Amino acid sequence: MRTLIRDCRLYLNGKIVENCLLVIDAPLISDFGVDHGLQLACDVEVSAKGRLLLPGLVDPHVHLRDQGLSYKEDFWTGTASAVLGGVTSVIDMPNNLPPTATPSDLAERMELAKGRILANVGFACKPSPDHSLNSKLAEGGAIAFKMFVYEHMDRGRLDLPLVERVLESLSKLDRVLMLHCNVKTSFSEVLDLVKSRRAFKLCRVEKGLAEEILAIARKHGARVHFCHVTCPRTVELINDYKGFVRATLEVAVHHILLDHSILNGLGPMAHVDPPLRSRSTARRLFDMLRRGMVDFVASDHAPHALFEKEGEDPKPGLPNLQLMMPLLMTQVKRGRLDLSLVLERASARPAKVFGLRKRGAIVKGYYADLVEVDLKRRLKVRSDILVSKAKYTPFEGATLVGVPVRTYVNGVCVNDDYTIVGKGGEGVVLMPR
Ligand code: DOR
Ligand code: ZN
Ligand code: ZN
Repeated sequence: MRTLIRDCRLYLNGKIVENCLLVIDAPLISDFGVDHGLQLACDVEVSAKGRLLLPGLVDPHVHLRDQGLSYKEDFWTGTASAVLGGVTSVIDMPNNLPPTATPSDLAERMELAKGRILANVGFACKPSPDHSLNSKLAEGGAIAFKMFVYEHMDRGRLDLPLVERVLESLSKLDRVLMLHCNVKTSFSEVLDLVKSRRAFKLCRVEKGLAEEILAIARKHGARVHFCHVTCPRTVELINDYKGFVRATLEVAVHHILLDHSILNGLGPMAHVDPPLRSRSTARRLFDMLRRGMVDFVASDHAPHALFEKEGEDPKPGLPNLQLMMPLLMTQVKRGRLDLSLVLERASARPAKVFGLRKRGAIVKGYYADLVEVDLKRRLKVRSDILVSKAKYTPFEGATLVGVPVRTYVNGVCVNDDYTIVGKGGEGVVLMPR
């Protein structure tokens, strides 16, 4: 099927070019450029009415749940959130029920996803100290591996021998190990730390863990990716190591745009692991992204049911996917972020690092994963606009711009006028190259 998009603005070679057209021969982009008004044969012709047409975002850190956790989110609601947020490819984390830890778990998850996903999904698996198991997972399509390493502030240490065995194994498989490095803190512990002004201690732990892991990665030539880094010194450290280690780092949108002062009003609805940091830390992290010291921006979409957020020991996690493009484009519109940086760090670079072939940019022959963005339309954030099963958001009340009014995945329109029109199955399971 051939779709012709007319009257769009394209971001080409560092600048916005008016009055362009783009031709999709699904699933690929077959042509684009300035529209000279020629007649072109097509099955569908749409006008973007002068709006920006951008590559879909690639979010390397998302928890889609489903299976035993489908009361929190499922493949449909999670990927519907993605495409309304301008995100066309995601990497799903393995802390599921069952965890994505064996080849049959992975195969089952892939099978369930097929036919139900509106965005492309790659699956990260839980690594094992057993190389042959990791190898089978890699063969089965594990696009990356993800490990949670926790250090308690006063007790216990991380299991360094385990991390070492895993990194040794994954370096042979040339797969990235994604790491959650943090102190595990309950909501009440977070409140205590903030009140007593001891939250900086969390940063010391994050940096210490990163340093130990970087040293092991260096020894084994392994690839490591640090998820949701929250401290400027950790960002500096990882950048210092980049000459010796194949390391990348991400910030989560909430850690750069929000700070722990909102815990007073929103309470557990703003509880996330790692927790929100101080206003000055968030500002410094944002600035580091602006200056190019951060590889990717992720949502860390981690939906929970309301009863779990409101209970005794509230679960950490925020459902951010649907807000990704508006959150970032609002910063672009305010002149705080460059559009080129957003497209590079939230689309092109994650696509490249995780080996998503022919995605993350508008190039002839690439997959037509595209977003038509309305920079004038406002989005008033309220939890009831979310298509996620998780009806809460720490961005409640914010007014954003840059609404993804149309989203194409593999050349098929799945969101039209900020409404889901896809049937599911337009997205594909992303396989490692
Ligand atoms: O806030 C978080 N939620 N942090 C994590 O590391 C896990 C995630 C989840 O899966 O809910
Ligand atoms: Zn995490
Ligand atoms: Zn996460």
